[in-house]
Amino acid sequence: MTEMVKSITTLFQERFNKQPLVVAAPGRVNLIGEHTDYNQGFVLPGAVDKRIYLGVAENHSNTINLYAKQYNESFSFTLDDIKPVKGWQTYILGVSFYLIQSGATIRGVDVVIDGDIPVGGGMSSSAALCSAFGYAVNKIFDNGLSAMQLALIGQKTENHFAEVQCGIMDQFASLHGKAGNVMKLDCSNLEYEYIPFDFPEYKIVLVNTMVSHTLASTEYNTRRLQCEEGVAIMREILGPDILSLRNISIEQLEANKNKLSETVYRRCAFILHENQRLLRGCELLRGHDLKGFGELMHGSHEGLSKWYEVSCPELDFLQSKARNFKGVAGSRMMGGGFGGCTINIIPAAIIDDFSSYITETYETQFKKTPEIYITQLSDGAGVIEQ
Ligand code: GLA
Repeated sequence: MTEMVKSITTLFQERFNKQPLVVAAPGRVNLIGEHTDYNQGFVLPGAVDKRIYLGVAENHSNTINLYAKQYNESFSFTLDDIKPVKGWQTYILGVSFYLIQSGATIRGVDVVIDGDIPVGGGMSSSAALCSAFGYAVNKIFDNGLSAMQLALIGQKTENHFAEVQCGIMDQFASLHGKAGNVMKLDCSNLEYEYIPFDFPEYKIVLVNTMVSHTLASTEYNTRRLQCEEGVAIMREILGPDILSLRNISIEQLEANKNKLSETVYRRCAFILHENQRLLRGCELLRGHDLKGFGELMHGSHEGLSKWYEVSCPELDFLQSKARNFKGVAGSRMMGGGFGGCTINIIPAAIIDDFSSYITETYETQFKKTPEIYITQLSDGAGVIEQ
């Protein structure tokens, strides 16, 4: 039993006087395909070995009692009075709300929450929290919801209880992860396939800027609206079948460029190229061409920074230092942007040198120490056997 599971079990026994079921749901990385999910495009995430852990047991009432160890905060609510709040509690409220709405059984439970996903690090701790709670309730009350149904409940929670108009990538990854694999998800129909990340000499390394600019969620929602504006204009031109950027080719966009504002054009162009990069990237991974894949990651970063404009000086700095570091296969910003982490594919043999170099140069430039995580592609949400 890991330290985390031991401590959550002990804490649960102390607070609630019984034995919990312990479940965990992971954070995610995304190799390529950013901001494409809410545009019905493709993403390529994998679950990682950083997780939210929950100790959960039924309490035979109508009340959910929560204790979050990391914040040392408690919160209780009854299932007939659910409203969004500010803070981590809203994710549990939202999942409970949408479980009820979907017709699932949910009764009172006691919950202890802990985890090792850095909050604000862009690895989606909030999606992991939703996934873990949805998974636990599904298990305890034997609801038989699929992992995809739970992911959609998590996404609705994020959309309506946290007011971030996110796509499905994070919740999907947290619930469907498979050790050693990434997942190519088509967000237009939710079909997915596993692709082995089979490069034993390489590691996926995240470098955390340790900043999370306050713009993040408002700018995120703005990007979504700008893409929707592009789709609406292209629908006027091309006809009613145009429902998302997925229905538009690069050629069609270029031919109608002058009908869109410069900003909307650039947002749409980025998404179309990012989908192309992802499709090519999957072929390269299958063909074991990591160098070629790395080039696509650099193209993705360039696009996110200059065309989609969701990067920030800290991310641009880390990416440019990493991509020029000898031996690094690829580097780019990851996730929503405006802070969080870069994702880097690096030979295990040079990680120590890379880490010292990055830490030193970043400290000099930004007077902050970046955290560096060497990740392992892992399984999705599940029960931890004790
Ligand atoms: C956040 C969102 C995801 C996705 C990424 C950007 O992580 O939660 O749905 O849009 O940003 O790719």
